[in-house]
Amino acid sequence: MLTVENLVAGYGKVQVLHGISLEVQKGQLVTLIGSNGAGKTTTLRTISGMVSPISGTVKLADQVITGEPAYRITRRGMAHSPEGRRVFPALSVEDNLQLGAFTRFTGSRPKGDTAADLERMLDLFPRLRERRQQLAGTLSGGEQQMLAMARALMLNPEVLLLDEPSMGLAPKLVEEVFQIISRLKESRITMLLVEQFAAAALDVADYGYVLENGRISSSGPAAQLRNDPAVRAAYLGTAH
Ligand SMILES: Nc1ncnc2c1ncn2[C@@H]1O[C@H](COP(=O)(O)OP(=O)(O)O)[C@@H](O)[C@H]1O
Ligand SMILES: [Mg+2]
Repeated sequence: MLTVENLVAGYGKVQVLHGISLEVQKGQLVTLIGSNGAGKTTTLRTISGMVSPISGTVKLADQVITGEPAYRITRRGMAHSPEGRRVFPALSVEDNLQLGAFTRFTGSRPKGDTAADLERMLDLFPRLRERRQQLAGTLSGGEQQMLAMARALMLNPEVLLLDEPSMGLAPKLVEEVFQIISRLKESRITMLLVEQFAAAALDVADYGYVLENGRISSSGPAAQLRNDPAVRAAYLGTAH
């Protein structure tokens, strides 16, 4: 579904990604783990068109989308739940979700039943149902993170890019977010998950890639990486 080949990208003269290759098959949950500053966010931004690549290829459903502007990539069905909590603070929870579906009405993607999908999101994120009419800016950090995920899902995406959905959350909420991710996986949503909680990400994923200084240093089935001594030492600590 998503294929990245030899992706090179950066900011201005600073090259951050030095030739990244990865693949996410339809219905798969793939995780990209790595330390702070390794280039995880930059990888997702380059895939979704927010950063223009210097070279390399990004393919969505076998179509080359490299270098297309972000809005057009969204129209093709790529949803990006960005790092941090990018919600519209002055709009209600419900209006934020409605906006997530907006792109369905501009491109050639199936429009579907927005109202039914909204209900589905409120089922998946009960905290959002309770706060449906509340302004997004007044939600807690964890709730805003959930809203950002739910809004991305309102696109009915072919692929969902999730950038550190657990960032800055209390442990109980981190657990809740991972439960939601595993439910999304059960419903066969294709996902690329970036996480600093490497152990939790590898527990839920099918396949994993380790990013080190803008290069993939190892990859494999998630269970295999979870037991890899080098990966354990660098990213999982000994207690896990
Ligand atoms: N907007 C930006 N402008 C310049 N450099 C950036 C920008 N965003 C990130 N970087 C740099 O790119 C590198 C990778 O960052 P990032 O992709 O955010 O890593 P990660 O998400 O793995 O923590 C870092 O050295 C960071 O300082
Ligand atoms: Mg990041």
